[in-house]
Amino acid sequence: VARQDARDRPLRLGVLGCGNVGAKFVELVDTEAEAIARRTGIELAVTRIAVRDPDKARPSSLDPASLSKRLTTDAAAVVTDPEVDLVVELIGGIEPAEELVLQALGAGKPVVSGNKELLASSGGELLAAAEAAGVDLLFEASVAGAIPLVRLLTESLAGERIVRLMGIVNGTTNYMLTRMSEEGLSYEEALAEAQALGYAEADPTADVEGFDAAAKAAILAGIAFDADVVASDVYREGITAIGPDDIAFAHRLGYEVKLLAVAERSVDQASEASETGRSGPPSVSVRVHPAMVPRDHPLASVRGSFNAVFLDGAAAGELMVYGRGAGGLPTASAVLGDVIDAAHHLREGSRSRSARRRAPDLRPMAVLRAQYYLSVDVADRPGVLAAVASVFGENDVSIRSMEQIGLAGEARLVFLTHTALEADMQATIAGLGRLEAVERVGCMLRVLGPEAGP
Ligand code: NDP
Ligand code: HSE
Repeated sequence: VARQDARDRPLRLGVLGCGNVGAKFVELVDTEAEAIARRTGIELAVTRIAVRDPDKARPSSLDPASLSKRLTTDAAAVVTDPEVDLVVELIGGIEPAEELVLQALGAGKPVVSGNKELLASSGGELLAAAEAAGVDLLFEASVAGAIPLVRLLTESLAGERIVRLMGIVNGTTNYMLTRMSEEGLSYEEALAEAQALGYAEADPTADVEGFDAAAKAAILAGIAFDADVVASDVYREGITAIGPDDIAFAHRLGYEVKLLAVAERSVDQASEASETGRSGPPSVSVRVHPAMVPRDHPLASVRGSFNAVFLDGAAAGELMVYGRGAGGLPTASAVLGDVIDAAHHLREGSRSRSARRRAPDLRPMAVLRAQYYLSVDVADRPGVLAAVASVFGENDVSIRSMEQIGLAGEARLVFLTHTALEADMQATIAGLGRLEAVERVGCMLRVLGPEAGP
């Protein structure tokens, strides 16, 4: 029925949420509907919109009268409304979003969502529900805002063996690190600016502690490796331990400090085209942590709230996508692209390709090999440097360079290591923490190339 109807009249959209993204999405559809119909042959109309508070001012230039006619506080009624053909979920969070998405799919309605938290916690189950219903569940907006990354991985690179994916996927932390790096702002000043500009989540812990990036890393790893990766599988460190001294030291050595999301296959699965490599569970490492990125790497020049993802494919080689990773309008653009795709599929009675996902073999962080930066505050007296250096040696970590910065009565030692095993580096940090002369083990950063890792 939906297939026939969709040819004869506009596709009726039920939108759940009218906040930063939802309001911009409704505005885009209202203003661009004619142009979209001309370009794509798809006529769209937002017929119902669910919100919590119908009296709230909306962040858009929508005509209040036209908006209020479509508003309701009953989100479930929007999903079940026979006059809604496709559901756009822009509420965020797990509940009630998950139940509403499942309800829509169960009713045979395609769903477009920008909900990274939901996709990173139960993406596998939701995709299975969409497959069982024979309709689309599309979620381009959930990772890196306007950047067409999900579609790049699922369509353009559908035949590619992705070896590694490494990106800046959180606008807030990239903005903060840029301001700290370029203007010498303190962590607190940079965070206050990011919040004022509307980049940060309502609780910025999600940004600065890496939870938001971890959710996006899980979604990307799931698509890139056809694996059921959830946010809690992702190793995660945020940027809260990074100070201006760490950034200044990185600069002197020719690096920028970036919060990276990394997802990569194990070395044997990356290089082997063996049957074992293809049919065994994907052996992957998925992690989020700050890293020192060499200035000549493309990711080092990604500034402010921009996002970028650097991909390495076995056949395609290296490529990078870059753009606005946050903000109502850029994110709404990604939602709209998905809606048009889903509308085409509904009209044709088809759906997007979705690969069967397998449980991944997750490689523990302890087996990572990387170079490391570490700062250590120590008492400034004879014998301390030798004691500190011996802890590195006892744990098989070779020091590449060391610098001492004088502080009042103390000294800050900053080390750069040769490539070492993460487990050995963690043992070194624990050993340093036990030394009487060590006042504080400060920031640890993994260093991107040239020896290995991160
Ligand atoms: P907002 O908090 O601005 O908007 C959420 C909307 O959902 C509000 O309109 C709210 O209503 C409505 N809502 C919440 N709970 C209910 C409910 N139970 N029933 C009906 N309506 C409800 O979020 P954003 O627009 O920023 O984000 C939306 C989604 O897009 C999230 O999943 C987010 O992760 C994702 N996203 C956001 C980006 C961004 O830059 N903002 C970027 C990429 C993805 P009311 O307004 O009345 O309170
Ligand atoms: N808080 C997120 C960010 C919003 O800073 O990237 C986009 O997901």
